[in-house]
Amino acid sequence: MSQTNSIMNTYGSPTIEFDHGEGVWLFDRDGKKYLDALSGIGVCALGHAHPAVTKAICEQAEKLVHTSNLYHIGTQQKLADKLTAVSGMDNVFFANSGAEANEAAIKMARLYGSNKGINTPKIIVFETAFHGRTLATLSAGGNEKIKQGFGPLLEGFVRCPYNDVDAVKALSEDKDIVAILVEPIQGEGGLNVPDADYLTQLRAISDANNWLLMLDEVQTGNGRTGQYFAYQHFDWLPDIVTTAKGLGNGMPIGACLAQGKAAELFQPGHHGSTYGGNPLASAAALATVTTLTDAGFVDNAAKMGTYIQDQFKQKLAQNDKVVDIRGLGLMIGIEIAQPCTELVQKAMDRGFLINVAAGKVIRLLPPLIIDQDQADTLIAVICELIQELD
Ligand SMILES: Cc1ncc(COP(=O)(O)O)c(C=O)c1O
Repeated sequence: MSQTNSIMNTYGSPTIEFDHGEGVWLFDRDGKKYLDALSGIGVCALGHAHPAVTKAICEQAEKLVHTSNLYHIGTQQKLADKLTAVSGMDNVFFANSGAEANEAAIKMARLYGSNKGINTPKIIVFETAFHGRTLATLSAGGNEKIKQGFGPLLEGFVRCPYNDVDAVKALSEDKDIVAILVEPIQGEGGLNVPDADYLTQLRAISDANNWLLMLDEVQTGNGRTGQYFAYQHFDWLPDIVTTAKGLGNGMPIGACLAQGKAAELFQPGHHGSTYGGNPLASAAALATVTTLTDAGFVDNAAKMGTYIQDQFKQKLAQNDKVVDIRGLGLMIGIEIAQPCTELVQKAMDRGFLINVAAGKVIRLLPPLIIDQDQADTLIAVICELIQELD
């Protein structure tokens, strides 16, 4: 069959194209306005065309876009200083995406094992996890469907059910295990929120076994859950944390942060990236992180997240199609008793962009700048759509 589109067919055929955006709003080519409750899949935390980010990008682009990491990049240094201050971590490796940030973490875990004389290191990963689409991150992920056709996958991962502390504890005897890689809340897997003490228990098990605790905060990071990183809801640090998405507000950038013994692992020659943390991406990310933290948007995520969840719980309490309403901050899921992917188009027809994860969980990741009026219109339309389900 001859190919009619010069773009490879990995995303189907999107029917809509946006022309411009402002704040929580996107405008299509016909001028129709949409409330973006997905933020480019959790990316545009400051909404669209945020003036601080636009200014930083424009000013940097006029001066210098790229030099490579063979030369010192002052803006990258400032970004690293800011991120370590905000996170409590010691140092950062910059990549271009979430998958690449996770690749760095996986390599660090293997190196940690190798330094201890473990030649076949294993990392504990989880069912329904998502860590990216590169071969290592695909292998670490728990979605079997998206792995089909891409074997042989990478060895060195042991899989446990998510939110099951005993399953992880049971692996304590395995001397090849070097690390745990886990999402604080699973996003793509269906917005799965673990028990309140789950992550703290994983921290304790990692300490007891001398494993690295590696958190994938590609989606939960950068204020999404109402703290800059989700682990900051607790009083401990991970050894490694990865992030991307909201970090650059749309400029591609990822980061792998480490502290303590993990911060010493990578030495010259161990890892690299031509673009990672280049001047343009770093300028955008520095403006994003600074605005997110200084302008109170992380607190807004906590406040609006609680408000939106409470409203849904009140308004949908009697609805027997709703199985569960869950989330943290502005990472909100409404689990429906039946498959409901058709709601994405129905919401779009009414001027709202939403997503459905795992086939039956309405996933909302609105910009962290959302205000109460905007939240109210979103809540109203989601409730309507659920009422109208067959
Ligand atoms: C938790 C998590 N990790 C990793 C990734 C992969 O990030 P990227 O698409 O930037 O490679 C995603 C993307 O959705 C994610 O949600």
